[in-house]
Amino acid sequence: MFREKKILVGITGSIAAYKSILLVRELVKAGAEVKVIMTPAARDFVTPLTLSTLSGRPVLSGLANDDAWANHVMLGRWADIFIIAPLSCNTLAKMAHGQCDNLLLAVYLSATCPVAVAPAMDEDMWHHPSTRSNLEILAKQGVQLLPVGNGALASGLSGEGRMAEPAEILGFLQAHLGKTQSLLGKRALITAGPTHEPLDPVRFIGNRSSGKMGIAIANELAARGAAVSLVLGPVSGHFKLDPKVEKIPVETAEQMFEACIQRFGTADIAVMSAAVADYTPAQPAAEKIKKNDGAFLLELSKTKDILATLGEMKREGQVLVGFALETTNEKSYALQKLEKKRADIIVLNSLNDAGAGFGHDTNKVTIFEKGGEELVYGQKTKQQVAVDIVDRIEKMCTA
Ligand code: CTP
Repeated sequence: MFREKKILVGITGSIAAYKSILLVRELVKAGAEVKVIMTPAARDFVTPLTLSTLSGRPVLSGLANDDAWANHVMLGRWADIFIIAPLSCNTLAKMAHGQCDNLLLAVYLSATCPVAVAPAMDEDMWHHPSTRSNLEILAKQGVQLLPVGNGALASGLSGEGRMAEPAEILGFLQAHLGKTQSLLGKRALITAGPTHEPLDPVRFIGNRSSGKMGIAIANELAARGAAVSLVLGPVSGHFKLDPKVEKIPVETAEQMFEACIQRFGTADIAVMSAAVADYTPAQPAAEKIKKNDGAFLLELSKTKDILATLGEMKREGQVLVGFALETTNEKSYALQKLEKKRADIIVLNSLNDAGAGFGHDTNKVTIFEKGGEELVYGQKTKQQVAVDIVDRIEKMCTA
């Protein structure tokens, strides 16, 4: 079931750690390569000896051993997924706020693989506002949260907060890692972020796109096994990109166009999520433009529409996805774009929806498909929206 899968299991200080012993045993039995990382507090609940015996590898817990530095960066790159089970309230808070005082936290902060957590705590802690807001922060950071169970708790009370059972965690891991095969052999081309159109050597016309939606789609496609090329405009801020994704940094709409035209021929899937400038300064100045007393008039010329050009080039079997960001007549504009640009799918963001569009970590979309389907989704994290979009792409690819 898990043959050739590399799974990093993080264990934190909670009585539920006894269930992780079973989890590690079942993963190894199912063919996974397992490495275990324990926080210092976890060692009060289960022994490294038990876990190293079951996993067949030394348990990792210190940032340094006697003679060697533990390479936390490579651990997060080695793994197909990092599952932290149980996740204690303390480690949850540290993860949410970027603290890094043990190996498990250092691996979390540098992990490029997907991260999932199975929290375990007493019911009152589970419902505490700090816990709620820390869980929200983790979700925004792209961490997948396994639901807690309801039942007998270590305190002797009964309620919500039990760690998911090993069988449930195995089921989650199987569903998640099973995905990696579904787009194997497919090539995907994604655009994301804004473009910067130069006025002179120091100024440009740009927009507020963060690139987060397109990056999440690139990661989701890569997680399902596609070979992904991401043509990325100038984005700022930290983002996690699957190391398997080929990143092609560009600045201008023209560079983005060229990068896409070169690659579209071999692509099975193309997702144009970039906020490409529609106009560019007709004659960018070679030297810095100096101010004077009068008004400044700027002549702009039209850029090439990448999505529409790919729509014209499209051959049988290629799936082409575009985005529409609208403020009025959303549905009719989205349907017009679907037809005019010969796309197979248009993902509509309405700027009238709170929590949708540029800069946010969440999005709310409606998907329109060539066959007439219209799918309305609720507000979700951009990672979850990426899963919905890629589900539809996958359905079309394999139809
Ligand atoms: N797009 C593109 N190349 C451009 C402009 C847009 O590939 N030069 C793509 C975007 O990546 C997006 C889709 O076209 O997938 C919709 O872009 P949008 O700017 O909303 O639509 P426009 O066609 O520019 O129409 P309008 O600005 O009138 O809404």
